[in-house]
Amino acid sequence: MVVPGFVFGLVLPLILAAGTNADVGFRFASYINNYMVLQKEPAGAVIWGYGISGATVTVTLYQQQEAIMKKVTSVKARSHSWMVVLDPMKPGGPYKVMAQQTFRRKNITLRVHDVLFGDVWLCSGQSNMQMTVSQVFNATKELANTAAYQSVRIFSVSLIQAEQELEDLAQVDLQWAKPTSENLGHGIFTYMSAVCWLFGRYLYDTLQYPIGLISSSWAGTPIEAWSSGRSLRACGVLTRGLIQSDFVTGPSKYSVLWNAMIHPLHNMTLKGVIWYQGESNVNFNRDLYNCTFPALIEDWRQTFHRGSQGQTERFFPFGFVQLSSYLSATSDDTFPQIRWHQTADFGYVPNARMPSTFMAVAMDLCDRKSPFGSIHPRDKQTVAYRLHLGARAVAYGEKLIFQGPLPENMELLADKGLLNLTYSLEIQVQRQHNIFEISCCSDHQCKWLPAPLDTVSAQSLALNVRSCRGTLAALRYAWATWPCEYKQCPLYHPGSALPAPPFMAFLTDLRPGAHRRLAE
Ligand SMILES: *[C@@H]1O[C@H](CO)[C@@H](O)[C@H](O)[C@H]1NC(C)=O
Ligand SMILES: *[C@@H]1O[C@H](CO)[C@@H](O)[C@H](O)[C@H]1NC(C)=O
Ligand SMILES: *[C@@H]1O[C@H](CO)[C@@H](O)[C@H](O)[C@H]1NC(C)=O
Ligand SMILES: *[C@@H]1O[C@H](CO)[C@@H](O)[C@H](O)[C@H]1NC(C)=O
Ligand SMILES: *[C@@H]1O[C@H](CO)[C@@H](O)[C@H](O)[C@H]1NC(C)=O
Repeated sequence: MVVPGFVFGLVLPLILAAGTNADVGFRFASYINNYMVLQKEPAGAVIWGYGISGATVTVTLYQQQEAIMKKVTSVKARSHSWMVVLDPMKPGGPYKVMAQQTFRRKNITLRVHDVLFGDVWLCSGQSNMQMTVSQVFNATKELANTAAYQSVRIFSVSLIQAEQELEDLAQVDLQWAKPTSENLGHGIFTYMSAVCWLFGRYLYDTLQYPIGLISSSWAGTPIEAWSSGRSLRACGVLTRGLIQSDFVTGPSKYSVLWNAMIHPLHNMTLKGVIWYQGESNVNFNRDLYNCTFPALIEDWRQTFHRGSQGQTERFFPFGFVQLSSYLSATSDDTFPQIRWHQTADFGYVPNARMPSTFMAVAMDLCDRKSPFGSIHPRDKQTVAYRLHLGARAVAYGEKLIFQGPLPENMELLADKGLLNLTYSLEIQVQRQHNIFEISCCSDHQCKWLPAPLDTVSAQSLALNVRSCRGTLAALRYAWATWPCEYKQCPLYHPGSALPAPPFMAFLTDLRPGAHRRLAE
């Protein structure tokens, strides 16, 4: 939204004038509003706002006309803020929340209505998260499909940068709302985030209770803009100057989006976060992404846990989309490297450095003809579907397959010139000449050679490695910007249709007959 300068000139003095009138100072935080979803049990939802310091604030929860819960607090002197933690609530609604400030025998009352209890998910990242429902495949159908999802509520944060951590959002693009075709399909790269919406919709299909979705994303932004100074320092990132790269078209200052678009939400109780970002780091601090991403997750977890008085889980579930593919002018391995670093170089999640995380592999969801550029594939339904499988397993404890096959064991059959990979899952294989590659070394020189498929069984495949006359140093799978055509990668799990994630494994200790484990 473009706001002409004169509007600022007009509105700003009014806001300042209002600030001097103590009566107007009593308010809820920007995101406590009609139609909101508050986090359900076992956590307690946080309600907070501002008021006159020293005043008493009473927060009452109403079901129909009956007061069912009352919490009393007072406004803190320096911050002018107040906060209460509600008792854990079962999912459902609607409820009303009333907050009353009493100061010098004068009362002010605020009310919000149609409040539901359910799970609140925060969705963040860059353009592939910001892409709206009107930009995806079958947009008309998806936009019309809202009647059954009136308990999935949506909220979208405005694009704002700040040099300091803000306590509340400076501006909101879409205040809490029930989904309609208008607010879901507002425009291009604005709101509502398609991945966020579709993820919430899939979750609702399974959980059958309210879901709150908060979208806070900005196109063309590197991870450094979403990271606090603390987490950048932990990875040795120098935070002076601007972030410069062809792939950075959004804000290019360190921490500015953390400060303005994430930190203001840290006092609310959340269920978890989903994230779709990484394209803007292919040419900026790429080699650090295996640190900056786990550090961001850890820092967000600490901050939200503390900000919500321990109500948001310390290790809340964090899901992300592994980069899809795009038609690159150059053939380099920057995309595969970011994909790998997104897993902290493990190839799978959760892992030791990324506990309680889940990932949607998307490298097979390419879109040559996307009107928004091939870097913005339009199949966000499959992305959200795969992500919600991960959430069901990691966040909701369901026993289901949420990640495609990774080799569990590798054995070199030297006499046959084969490398035998065994999987813990069933595999479905389509032949593709150069999807597996081996690094073959002789005279201190290594090069990547294709390792064609030899024999295939239900849970193993053997690669022909006879082209290597030296030492077999490493094996990699799908190590390309565009590894396959749409849903045509060589390896899937047949039941779930989940693709095998890309991986790289060092084989230096692999002597004939020796085994090496990749997955845990
Ligand atoms: C203010 O609210 C308190 C508590 O609800 C109530 O006891 C009191 O009578 C109210 N005062 C006025 C002036 O309305
Ligand atoms: C991250 O990746 C870089 C290069 O890609 C590597 O040198 C480094 O050891 C990795 N760091 C961690 C913490 O895994
Ligand atoms: C939000 O949480 C932080 C960290 O615990 C705390 O310092 C701040 O006062 C909280 N805000 C409100 C309004 O209570
Ligand atoms: C679009 O709708 C068609 C027809 O229902 C369906 O076959 C296709 O899978 C849908 N595409 C996506 C990406 O959901
Ligand atoms: C690879 O290992 C599996 C599991 O041990 C075995 O069933 C299969 O026959 C082996 N493949 C070859 C070509 O030896």
